[in-house]
Amino acid sequence: MKIEVFDDQKILHRRAALVIAAELTTKSAPVLGLATGGTPVATYQELIRLHREEGLSFAHVRSFNLDEYVGISYEHPESYHAFMKRQLFDSVDIPDDAWQVPDPNNSEMLARPSLYDELIEAAGGIDLQLLGLGNNGHVAFNEPADSFSEWTTRVALTESTILANSRFFDSPDEVPREALSMGIASIMRARKILLLACGESKAKAVKAMVQGEISAQCPASVLRLHRDVTILLDRDAAMLLEA
Ligand code: GLP
Repeated sequence: MKIEVFDDQKILHRRAALVIAAELTTKSAPVLGLATGGTPVATYQELIRLHREEGLSFAHVRSFNLDEYVGISYEHPESYHAFMKRQLFDSVDIPDDAWQVPDPNNSEMLARPSLYDELIEAAGGIDLQLLGLGNNGHVAFNEPADSFSEWTTRVALTESTILANSRFFDSPDEVPREALSMGIASIMRARKILLLACGESKAKAVKAMVQGEISAQCPASVLRLHRDVTILLDRDAAMLLEA
């Protein structure tokens, strides 16, 4: 794991955007794995700036998002489909049919979520997977558990995730209880992984991911077994790490 700690979040997001941009400029058909949540928003803003001001093109990109809530439609503003349109895809030149999120409204995918992994595979596999980190150490919606889920699957969200994500909804009651989420194997197959974590609320999860035992109780800890992972942290998220 390469770990970089930043005093200034703006520089952290610029660095993240440049890692993503490097995939776009060096590959003829890059496949991205993208993430939702509050953390990557500033990275997406920087990518939009690079597109508008420096000619970074997404015309040749394929993108697969990590996860999607079950039980709300794509039109719901907090669906991850709507999030990605609003935060990135409506503002860059990616073709409409070149990006997708797991689709709980597709009955075939809901019945057999690993269909999503087959689509990723058919596209050539993910070159760069962007990840956030849950307060409880989750990645995508792989919640702490007794064993790692492998491929894309239907998952129940934990109370702590429902509470953390309730800030995007009017009340915790409105947060969907389930999601379709890429599994740990789906994520570990990516050729390169970039994880971003900011703020004190992530400090415990960062410590467990980097210096705790590798365990399904902290799903992100498994990333230590991947050979090309970069972690970008701000000072607060890094505060519990021992040198
Ligand atoms: C959500 C998403 C994750 C995301 C995490 C952290 O539950 N499913 O993919 O990484 O929460 O979100 P945030 O960046 O808002 O802290």
